[in-house]
Order: sequence, then structure tokens, then C-alpha cells
Amino acid sequence: MGKISIIGAGNVGASCAEYIAMKNFAAEVVLLDIKENFAEGKALDLMQTASLNGFDSRISGSTSDYSKTANSAVIVVTSGIPRKPGMTREELIGINAGIVKTVVQQCLEHSPEAIFVIVSNPMDTMTQLTKHISGLPRHRIIGMGGALDSARFRHYLSIALACPSSDVDAMVIGGHGDTTMIPLLRLAAYKGVPVSQLLSEEILEKVKADTMVGGATLTGMLGTSAWYAPGAAVSALVQSIVCDQKKMMACCVPLDGEYGESDICIGVPVILGRGGWERIVELSLTDDEKAEFQESARAVRSMNAAL
Ligand code: NAI
Ligand code: 2OP
Repeated sequence: MGKISIIGAGNVGASCAEYIAMKNFAAEVVLLDIKENFAEGKALDLMQTASLNGFDSRISGSTSDYSKTANSAVIVVTSGIPRKPGMTREELIGINAGIVKTVVQQCLEHSPEAIFVIVSNPMDTMTQLTKHISGLPRHRIIGMGGALDSARFRHYLSIALACPSSDVDAMVIGGHGDTTMIPLLRLAAYKGVPVSQLLSEEILEKVKADTMVGGATLTGMLGTSAWYAPGAAVSALVQSIVCDQKKMMACCVPLDGEYGESDICIGVPVILGRGGWERIVELSLTDDEKAEFQESARAVRSMNAAL
């Protein structure tokens, strides 16, 4: 039962705190926001659900007082502006880079041993920025994107298969962008049966397309970006770290030769445990999938150049 700090108590940060508390695996959750009293208010509201929902985690809030985050095992960075309809994740880069930089530096002063989970968009670039400014060992830097995109992929597959999402196994690797993510159709399975044996090419291509614009679809409907599935994806990822579950999830991590790439943070399958991401799983990709991954890495690199 460790301490988890979440920077940014907005939609994603607060939903992440709620899911973490509901799963009851953290002793302490700290929400921090720049907006006066905002994190304190969210924390108080959440704490008043404890007796109703039956959790024991202590949730507290802070307005920019980083000493409250001291000795966190995991720090989740959700601070920044979200997408509005018609905006890409990439358009957020200028504002969010400044925010993420100061947030990471201040967190590190109080929690030098923490594992950092970066959520703010454009997430691949914000994870790369965190690697450059923090000097942390690479296994303590994790961007959340693939876990969410994979959950959306499983959802759309479950609709096509008319089955529960939990019966579908599927993963999205590559960048966390509408054009850079790679839903791996070839490896997707319904209870072990490849989905390519069950669904037509046309339906599979529609599932892939729906997955890739999954975030934009919700932004169009909600007027801002989604928070339930993002919060749930972060909390599942953090639970695997804090509880040393060794779950395999697609996460954005710094590569050092894996998948033929270096000096880039991009989504690949990793094993998550107490040490952060403990191992990269090297899938044997087809030539076409390798080409897609190289193209995704090229696009992420060109976005990183704007830093
Ligand atoms: P939001 O606007 O609801 O919350 C952001 C919070 O950050 C606000 O409360 C704001 O006051 C706070 N903030 C801004 N500057 C800060 C600073 N310097 N220090 C501390 N707090 C600060 O936005 P939402 O929907 O929670 O999204 C947060 C970020 O997460 C956005 O960049 C969004 O694009 C990204 N996102 C990423 C996803 C992913 O899969 N990686 C999924 C969903 C959202
Ligand atoms: C999402 O995928 C916008 O990254 C955010 O919902």
C-alpha cells in the first residue's frame, strides 16, 4: 500500500483518484492542482464516498504545495489543457510542455525515487520531455496511452463480436495519436480464436478505424476529452506497479534498441511491477507491422522536434 500523487485534479486526475480508491490498493492518494482549493474540494468530495463505497485509502488535496507529495511511490501527471473538438493532441504541445516540465521538476525534489506516469498530451512527446529533464532511469518513466487505446480496441471488437470486452484480447502499440497508433488486428483474439477467423476484412478495418479516432469521437461528443476510460487505464497501470502484478500493458517507454528504435518514447508491450516497467516484450511483427511501427516512430519524432 504505497502513496500515489496525482498532479492535475481535473477530469482525468480526479477519475483516476476515484478508481484507485475504489480498488483499495493505495494507503494514500494526494491530488494536487494549481487552481486554488480545487484539489482539496475534489479530495473532500471523494473522501465522503468512503463509507458508501467501502474503501480505506486516504485522499487529500493540495494547491501547489509539493511537500504534500513527498515520498510518493508513483506520480501521475495529468496537469495541462485537454483537447477541444477539432483539436489534435499535438496542438497542445506548447502549453503542456511548460506545465509538465515544472511539475516533474517539483515532484522530483520531494519524491526522488518515484515512478512517473505521464498522461498529459501529446503524451509520447511529454514522456520524452520527462526523460530529458529528469535524468531518471528509463524503467521509471511510463507514458499512458496504449492501455487506453487497447481498451477502446477491445470495446469495438466486442461490439463486432457481440461478446463482453473481457473475452477479447487485443493490443494497440505505437504512438498515442489518431494516425500514429497501431491496433494489432493480426494478434487480436476472442477467447484464443484469432478475430480474423470470425470477422470480415471490412468489419476489421472499421474496428481499426474506430479505435484510431476513439479519443476524437469522444471529444466531439463531450466537448472536451474523455476521462472515465483514461482514469481507469491509469489506475490499472498504477495498480500493476504498486501491487507488483506483472501485468502486460502497452505503455510509452524510452526505447534503447528494442523494436529497432532508440532515443524515442513510444508504445510497446511492457511488464509492469514494483520497479516500474520491468521488461519490454518484443513481439515478432510482420514486415508490414514493422513498417507501420517505423512510420509511427517517424511521426512521433517529428512531433518531438517541436519541443
Ligand atoms: P482538465 O482540464 O479537466 O484537468 C487538467 C487540470 O490540470 C486542471 O484542473 C488544471 O487546473 C490543472 N493544471 C494546469 N496547470 C497546472 C500546473 N502547472 N500544476 C498543477 N495543475 C495544473 O483536463 P483533463 O481532461 O483532466 O486532461 C488532462 C490532460 O490529460 C490533457 O492534456 C489531456 O489531453 C490528457 N489526456 C491524455 C490521455 C492519454 O491517454 N494519455 C487521455 C485523456 C486525457
Ligand atoms: C484520449 O485519447 C485525448 O488522449 C485523449 O481520449
